[in-house]
Amino acid sequence: MTIHIGAEKGEIAETVLLPGDPYRAKWAAETFLSDVKQINNVRGMLGFTGFWKGNRVTIQGSGMGMPSLSIYVNELIRDYGAKTLIRIGSCGAMQDSVKIRDVILAMTSTTLSTPSRGILRELNFAPCADWSLLQAAADAAQAKGTPTHIGGIYSSDVFYDERPDLNEQMVRHGILGVEMEAAELYILAARHKCRALAVLTVSDHLLTGEALPSDEREQSFGDMVEIALRAAFPDAD
Ligand code: HPA
Repeated sequence: MTIHIGAEKGEIAETVLLPGDPYRAKWAAETFLSDVKQINNVRGMLGFTGFWKGNRVTIQGSGMGMPSLSIYVNELIRDYGAKTLIRIGSCGAMQDSVKIRDVILAMTSTTLSTPSRGILRELNFAPCADWSLLQAAADAAQAKGTPTHIGGIYSSDVFYDERPDLNEQMVRHGILGVEMEAAELYILAARHKCRALAVLTVSDHLLTGEALPSDEREQSFGDMVEIALRAAFPDAD
């Protein structure tokens, strides 16, 4: 057990999928995994371990925002030996070419700040996805026929944004979408020599104001989970 995860040692797989929402972790585990066991409910941040096509995988909620994700990812890596960590979450689109329901694979992420700012200090570290995961996810998305964009995203510290000028600069510089967690995941993976990727579904559009209706969120979320699982286990049939 750690402070925030109640699992026993050995109950968490080396490959961990990280949705922000703990109920999405439950849905994904029940929908995609077999032999599922709930391994965490501390603070309601549900986690499950099971098998996908014979491969052991954990799906653990990360909460919203980089400070919350940082707590779970630190404990997953340092205390439970997680090696491959894939965020599965939603984002807001920032380009006209990116549509609601499309998938974004985050090659890198821009930030104003992250929880790692304290140790990186004046460095503008470039958080970067693991290439083998990114390549496998791109292959999986193509095989599924899911409209997919690969490039830079923006990991923001705020959902209710008071600085429209920052979003304007992100749009101007070709950033595909905005979410709140990927940059710190990539930095922690780099620090601990793990592999990380963020696979994101576009749930809303900052330029058009469109949003994915709640009854359609499940289907789009499912496509993303499958892409993440295929990225983690490219040799599974
Ligand atoms: N902003 C930040 N995070 C998000 C958004 C957004 O518009 N949509 C989904 N996650």
